[in-house]
Amino acid sequence: MQTILVTGGAGYVGSHCCLALAATGFLPIVFDNLSNGHREHVQWGPLVVGDIRDAAHLDAVFSAHAPVAVLHFAGRIEVGESVKDPGAFYDHNVGGAITVIEAARRANVNVMVFSSTCAIFGEPAILPMDERHPQAPLNPYGRSKLMVEQVLVDYDRHVGFRSAVMRYFNAAGAEPEGRIGEWHEPETHAIPVAIQAALGQRPNFTIFGDDYDTRDGTAVRDYVHVLDLADAHVAALKRLLAGGSSEAFNLGAGTGTTVRELVDGVVRATGKPLPLRVAPRRLGDAPMLVADNTKARRVLGWTPARDLDAILSSAWRWHQAQAAADR
Ligand SMILES: NC(=O)c1ccc[n+]([C@@H]2O[C@H](COP(=O)([O-])OP(=O)(O)OC[C@H]3O[C@@H](n4cnc5c(N)ncnc54)[C@H](O)[C@@H]3O)[C@@H](O)[C@H]2O)c1
Repeated sequence: MQTILVTGGAGYVGSHCCLALAATGFLPIVFDNLSNGHREHVQWGPLVVGDIRDAAHLDAVFSAHAPVAVLHFAGRIEVGESVKDPGAFYDHNVGGAITVIEAARRANVNVMVFSSTCAIFGEPAILPMDERHPQAPLNPYGRSKLMVEQVLVDYDRHVGFRSAVMRYFNAAGAEPEGRIGEWHEPETHAIPVAIQAALGQRPNFTIFGDDYDTRDGTAVRDYVHVLDLADAHVAALKRLLAGGSSEAFNLGAGTGTTVRELVDGVVRATGKPLPLRVAPRRLGDAPMLVADNTKARRVLGWTPARDLDAILSSAWRWHQAQAAADR
């Protein structure tokens, strides 16, 4: 069985990818400092608790587990925090990524699948957004990811280190049996926040801006099921292991959902009323972000198969399981 090093595999997207890796016959070795991840989410292989900035620890893990590739998810993720503390984002996201790449190279592993984001693009100039969209991140989080993308271009060009750059739009949903799901602290993502409001764990759900030039005035986002993202990672990994070239992919469902449509979907999925509050637009929030996923479909043979209702019902099952466990 081939082993894969999964940095950040105790987190949301990483743990779902571990499930998909195991289902495909790989053994995921999770390396995570548990700063935002959860031991309970590591169910498909061993967990090594460590920090991606610790080169010696990474060397020991490469030597002990002999992975054939790295899936690199670990990093700081909260845009608001990146504005308050840019240094931490460059340290973990850029410095950490280079430390992982260098450790991989010392172990003769020359293949990485990297978690990037649509935040590398900034304000949308063309919709839907394909891989050639101009890159102008609006915050240190997006810039830290773009910097790693650029670092990976140089490693490919000059030392033959190949990568697949996966730019997620809004990762959403959960594994359908409720074993793992979206669990960030603090939680800032729209779907878990809405479900927490439906469960009475928050007083309401805030719609930031209802005066955008969109079909109902609220912002449009592209929600892509986390298990569809996981399928894309496995396809990209297999392609790299078969000798495929370095590529970047925009990974969204390719459909836009307004905040009000999301609210209606949450009410449908939960069967509960969702108390709403409307607040002014937030600085830096684009009116609309939708992926053109043509390249991922063509090159990876990827089809995002799970729709918004599948996303919301799976997220709801996960939150119910969590609420039951907390009681
Ligand atoms: N969730 C989304 O919608 C989304 C969208 C675009 C991109 N991404 C990217 O995908 C990746 C995974 O995101 P997520 O939502 O699963 O976040 P997450 O916080 O759930 O997962 C990140 C994991 O990395 C770990 N980590 C952080 N710093 C570390 C360090 N220095 N050393 C070791 N481990 C460390 C955390 O403990 C956590 O388990 C991130 O790189 C994120 O930027 C996520």
